[in-house]
Amino acid sequence: MKFLPRKAFFATVILSALTSITHAANNRIITAPSCIIKLANVSAEVLARAQDILLLKVDASVIDKLSDAKHQTKTPCGGFKDVTARWNQTRAFAKQTDNASFLTDIINKPRQLHRAKSTYAIRFQTQANQLIKQLNPQRMWDSLTTFSSSKDRHADSAEGVAAANWIQSEIETAAHAAGRHDITVSFIKTTGHKQPSVVAKLGNGQGAGVVIGAHMDTTSGYYGKKPGADDDGSGSMTVLESARTIIESGATFKHPIYFIWYSAEELGLIGSQNVVAKFQQDHIPIAAVMHFDMTGFAYHNEPTIWLMKDNVDSDLTNFVDQIIKTYTGQPVKYTRCGYACSDHASWDEQGYAAALPAEARFEDTNPVMHSSQDTIDKLSITHMTDYAKIATAFAVELAEPTE
Ligand code: BES
Ligand code: ZN
Repeated sequence: MKFLPRKAFFATVILSALTSITHAANNRIITAPSCIIKLANVSAEVLARAQDILLLKVDASVIDKLSDAKHQTKTPCGGFKDVTARWNQTRAFAKQTDNASFLTDIINKPRQLHRAKSTYAIRFQTQANQLIKQLNPQRMWDSLTTFSSSKDRHADSAEGVAAANWIQSEIETAAHAAGRHDITVSFIKTTGHKQPSVVAKLGNGQGAGVVIGAHMDTTSGYYGKKPGADDDGSGSMTVLESARTIIESGATFKHPIYFIWYSAEELGLIGSQNVVAKFQQDHIPIAAVMHFDMTGFAYHNEPTIWLMKDNVDSDLTNFVDQIIKTYTGQPVKYTRCGYACSDHASWDEQGYAAALPAEARFEDTNPVMHSSQDTIDKLSITHMTDYAKIATAFAVELAEPTE
């Protein structure tokens, strides 16, 4: 070893101690099903493997390649999840976790610590139907046209930040028009990215909250426009229409309702992981979570509503099945997404009861997702409206109207 002056020696020691902590600029730690590696043809260092899930160290540039690879293949393969923050935390606090137990800790998540009840029943048909009648499909459609007109809504682009600001102002305008003072809109910071998640809280009810969300970000528009009309402009505007309708009706509930538009879903569920962590830090109880990721594409014009079976709570999903049949009259079928898939998985991982209604069977989902072709002309206003009905009925049934 070369002689080093005392100061430099310490610097070297500190540096090498920090090498196991990964910095946003270069390496990311992700979990992914093993199929994703073949799919994207990217290089990655395998840190551990368990139940066909890999723990990988990849260069940050690989993240965009992974989401782009998705629409270039017909083989369904579930998503990846960015776990860099958790990885760094584990290393920084020297919990002495080896790679294999880090991965099994992630897979063996806590089960259902947070839930509304174990038996659900439809109880508020009059109130829910009253609100459903007030939904405005054309307004939802027009909002989607606006929302999907920029180059992208990537979590690091100016347009991505503008999308968050636009949603905030839509909610504030609705609250103001209705003369309501029980609505707050706040931003939750997304680690390492410009676009925050947007949270609109409705009501001062004391019970555990109901979360209804979608992700507003798209993949990067750097090499070509990414309108993200379906993914997930459709879910975002489904949630916005439901929120505006409930706000404008003046309805109040025993439980607060949180309408959430997540940032950085496409980068590995980063925004939603920050949101869940913030709710936990602030000790905000949540009873049930509904997520919408793509609600506009009706495969062969089929009106069926699909429910995802993985990374969700089965009792809550059964209840959503009843909600769908009661309030939309459409048939319900079941499908699976694969590992992670969308932001509901961030809640599910922490033991919250979550459900995910989907536009189609996973294999028949919108084929232009993540491409420049993801435009509104391929979507169905009636299919999307059914999801807005589901969001609204879910809010009413679980947040419980006050007398
Ligand atoms: N919209 C997709 C998820 C999706 C796919 C929902 C098919 C319903 C049917 C989402 O934006 C996405 O691309 N997710 C990634 C995983 C994510 C953790 C990066 C995926 O599925 O690969
Ligand atoms: Zn999506």
